[in-house]
Amino acid sequence: MKIYLFGASNPETIRMIQAVENSSPDFQVAGFLDNDKSKHGKNFFGYDIIGGQKCVNQLINPDVRFVNLITGDILSRHYITKDIINSGGLMTNFIHPSVNLSMVDVGLGIYIQESVIVQASAKLCNNCSIHIGALVAHESVIGESTFIAHAASISGCCEVGSCCFIGTNSTILPRIKIGNYVTIGAGCVVINDIPDYAVVVGNPGKIIRYNKF
Ligand SMILES: CC(C)(COP(=O)(O)OP(=O)(O)OC[C@H]1O[C@@H](n2cnc3c(N)ncnc32)[C@H](O)[C@@H]1OP(=O)(O)O)[C@@H](O)C(=O)NCCC(=O)NCCS
Repeated sequence: MKIYLFGASNPETIRMIQAVENSSPDFQVAGFLDNDKSKHGKNFFGYDIIGGQKCVNQLINPDVRFVNLITGDILSRHYITKDIINSGGLMTNFIHPSVNLSMVDVGLGIYIQESVIVQASAKLCNNCSIHIGALVAHESVIGESTFIAHAASISGCCEVGSCCFIGTNSTILPRIKIGNYVTIGAGCVVINDIPDYAVVVGNPGKIIRYNKF
């Protein structure tokens, strides 16, 4: 299986590639894609940056899969994946082999770094991404294209909507419902349900504005 990774910016990706290729010999990274034209034709830690989204059509093949590494810009993550799929490209998961996903409902196009804990009966929807050291506790649902930053803690039985950004070191208390397109600030402690588009910061978390996407 030839893999093309979208987003050539975070060197941690290279350690992920080494770990995933070692545990799944069928997973072979063929190169990177990136919409930043200044990177095209350049080399990222030994891998060619072939081009941007426009290259996807030329690469599509039954043996090719795509992984989206974009995390900070949630809408880019969401729409680039949609474009790849609409062009006929096939997504795959890019999950560190140390992550235990037994008894977890795992979607497609998911990117999970090392030392993430996902507990039993959690559900990870398509295209979500979880960075190093975060926790998704039992029976919680993480929506499509949502990003959970490093060391964030989602307690049990929470529902996090689609296209949310959950900041580093934030804590979501048990059974909280978070809407779609929500931003949770770094270090925030979320103690109430949060409506769509809200930007929440502080402890206890307070809404400071609404995202205008
Ligand atoms: C929440 C966040 C998105 C807000 O960004 P912003 O819209 O640019 O907000 P501003 O910097 O203009 O701050 C607005 C107000 O919120 C406060 N604020 C911002 N982020 C805060 C945070 N994480 N905790 C507490 N207060 C915060 C600011 O002090 C400011 O307060 P003031 O109006 O009293 O001066 C951002 O600060 C944040 O926390 N991002 C998460 C970063 C992260 O976790 N990255 C992961 C890396 S992979």
